[in-house]
Amino acid sequence: MEDTPIVTSNGLNQSPASPEAGDAVLEIWGKHPLSGHVAISGAKNSALVVLAGTVLSSQPCRLRNIPNLMDVGRMAQVLEALGVKVTRNGSTLDIDPSDISHTRAPYDLVSRLRASFFVIGPLLARMGVARIPLPGGCAIGARPVELHVRGLQALGADVHIDHGTVHASIPGSRRRLQGAKIYLDYPSVGATETLMMAATLAEGETIIDNAAQEPEVADLANFCRAMGARIRGVGTKTLTIAGVPNLHGTDYAIIPDRIEAGTFLVAGAITQSEISLSPVIPEQLGAVIAKLREAGSQVVVETPNRVRLLPGREIHATDIQTLPYPGFPTDMQAQFMALMTLSNGSSMFTETVFENRLRHVAEFNRMGANIRLNGNCAIVQGVPVLSGAPVVATDLRASAALVLAGLAAQGKTVMAGVQHLDRGYEQLEQKLVKLGAHIERVTGDSLPQGAATPASVAFPRG
Ligand code: EPZ
Repeated sequence: MEDTPIVTSNGLNQSPASPEAGDAVLEIWGKHPLSGHVAISGAKNSALVVLAGTVLSSQPCRLRNIPNLMDVGRMAQVLEALGVKVTRNGSTLDIDPSDISHTRAPYDLVSRLRASFFVIGPLLARMGVARIPLPGGCAIGARPVELHVRGLQALGADVHIDHGTVHASIPGSRRRLQGAKIYLDYPSVGATETLMMAATLAEGETIIDNAAQEPEVADLANFCRAMGARIRGVGTKTLTIAGVPNLHGTDYAIIPDRIEAGTFLVAGAITQSEISLSPVIPEQLGAVIAKLREAGSQVVVETPNRVRLLPGREIHATDIQTLPYPGFPTDMQAQFMALMTLSNGSSMFTETVFENRLRHVAEFNRMGANIRLNGNCAIVQGVPVLSGAPVVATDLRASAALVLAGLAAQGKTVMAGVQHLDRGYEQLEQKLVKLGAHIERVTGDSLPQGAATPASVAFPRG
């Protein structure tokens, strides 16, 4: 059971909080208009992989704009298990990777944060060996890693899987991986990141073709370049990495979280409220902003890092197909579906990235939505109102989407599975309350009677 993290003396999130913290629910009273400005935190999906990337150098790094999330705390625990020292001071993390004393990541940590698998590339490139448990599936899909494994083998590593652990090593007397030309069958974000990091220390040139172009991949590339890596084609589907013998430490600030920003834009649209957000990088939200405009909202870019949402009088139906960047992000699919449940028409959602990322549909329907599932498609017939109800979040983005639906529903919504929210959103309810929402987190014996709690619902690993 994932628990609300507590902060320890070195400022890090350590997971074991009191058991009732895992039973927290959010009570959301709908129909409260929002107004004002919300500050967007650093990108979770940059923070996790940049933390892994610090292992590439033996010198200290300072990382800035790092959100205080359960997943970031878990990644820090994985690094500490390898011998890395991690100290948090507000949104700044000081990393000292000078003394890597282990090359095996503990299963109990990797099984709670699949992104920790991303340390395999840096650890192998730095130490010549890495033993990382297979991350396993999660609520949204099987999440295989064969693209990571095949890419590392192309770079000259011996990689085999034994008893659920991926054993990777640089064979024989060689100290470094060998540059190679790699074509990714699918533009996998994680595989692109793993292989780009490994290639920075390889001997010779590596080309990664059909690479993922997500902004967080570019952010990682820029972090590696700040450490002295030589990477060309950042932000395109072809990355060229000229390996260097070693990398130095750096002081680096990660980008703002485009998915958090998109989530708040939908919060404004679904409650018919005008709100502004910063910092935001508008061009990283191109597909989301285009779809919000199609749905009737105005999105005004006020300054290069600040946007304002002005809601439309009606919510117009529009179709969504999730795609690799720059297509519509799968991480915004559930949130945008919440908006479409109240549209004036019918919209088709096609989830092409993950095979099981429509589990929020059943919960929306409990709130009065009218959604039919057909494989990886959902047909959303807009309804005039949603009604508050007890609901259960099944994964990170579903939890955010249910909060958004609760903001628009008549009456009270009680959402269980709050630990999913804490994995990926920094103070979401506090930020929404500051905008005027009426949300309360209820834990332990003060739970409302009859509220569904995670204990009553089997939760797959998030
Ligand atoms: C990253 O996951 C993000 N996580 C996800 O965000 C995001 O949804 C996803 O990219 C897509 O944008 C982090 O960055 C920590 P993929 P990742 O490899 O790297 C298949 C969130 O909510 N695949 O691009 O795991 C895979 O099964 C999270 O913040 C293989 O088949 O995503 C999936 O169907 C959720 N074999 C598709 O590719 C492989 O070897 C996309 O996965 C690798 C991936």
